[in-house]
Amino acid sequence: MDAQLPAAAPISVGLPASVSEYTQVWPQPQPAPMRGRSPIKRIAVLTSGGDAPGMNAAIRSVVRTGVERDWLVFGVKHGYAGLIGDDMTILGRRDVGGIIGQGGTMLGSARSAEFRSEAGRRQALDVLAGRGIDALIVIGGNGSQSGANALAEMGFPVVGVASTIDNDLFGSEITIGVDTAMNIALEAIDRLKTTASSHHRAFLIEVMGRDCGYLALMSAIAGGAEAVAIPEIETDPEVIGEKLRTAYARGKPHALVVVAEGAKYNAEKLAAYFAENRERLGFDLRTTILGHVQRGGAPTAADRLLATRLAAAATEQLARGEAGVLVGLSKNEIIATPLADVAGKRKPLDVGLIALAEVLEK
Ligand code: F6P
Repeated sequence: MDAQLPAAAPISVGLPASVSEYTQVWPQPQPAPMRGRSPIKRIAVLTSGGDAPGMNAAIRSVVRTGVERDWLVFGVKHGYAGLIGDDMTILGRRDVGGIIGQGGTMLGSARSAEFRSEAGRRQALDVLAGRGIDALIVIGGNGSQSGANALAEMGFPVVGVASTIDNDLFGSEITIGVDTAMNIALEAIDRLKTTASSHHRAFLIEVMGRDCGYLALMSAIAGGAEAVAIPEIETDPEVIGEKLRTAYARGKPHALVVVAEGAKYNAEKLAAYFAENRERLGFDLRTTILGHVQRGGAPTAADRLLATRLAAAATEQLARGEAGVLVGLSKNEIIATPLADVAGKRKPLDVGLIALAEVLEK
């Protein structure tokens, strides 16, 4: 008979020293007993909103840790739209083989207008009941976790997994996809700097992030940009012009500004301002908009590991009968935050980093 591998060891994570008032440390020292409902037998998992590199690693981890608990795991296609339309399939260990290094999401993702209505959500609950599904895991960002909270408020056990390249989700210091997106922005910045240095040109690069400046600020700091424009702070284009114009005077071989797509002066507006005032400012800007390039490609090691840990924590959370929470990361520990505290909030940007960027760019 072939030798058999030993059973997987139980997952265990140490407890952090302190816990904020709105978070619950995961896991509890003693596994909590199932509370007032029959043990889980079937779960469903979906990815929703903008895709993020690492979502596949999260799906794989949900499926394999779920199967390890003898659960039947359903993969829902195309987010909440697929849930409403009963578009799902049973996933086994082998169905998620080879996806850990792939970008995108094998389940597909969508932003569902129908799910925003109560009728849509009731239809989703009917589908879940019809399949005998006991709990749902939602991998996604702000809009997706608000949807998860709406289902939780209707009494269905849901656990969210923090995933968005924007890193604006309350309840997790870092979310799945951020590291990969930031590295893509950084590679572009590094490449632009070499050509900027060769020609003594000024460059503008716009990065994603919706209404959040995290990706722009962090990639500007890591890439050594001369200026950054983010939605959280109103930036005067004249000040940016001055920073770029004096970069060469200060002995720099390049002049580069990183702009968040949600900034008041985004790439389009800043480039237009510079074009209109070209004579006075003395130079124009060459523009690169990264866009969805940042969401594509293979996830970094950090994103694969984050996704794997968070998704495993989500099934652990359900196994302990603790639903209605988002699993995220704080001080490199996994935490669970009530979905009600996550929905509708936005994580603020660290103002200390904004000040640091201003010092470093000189
Ligand atoms: O939320 C992730 C994100 O990539 C944002 O950074 C961006 O503003 C938005 O999604 C783009 O959405 P879509 O892919 O629907 O155009």
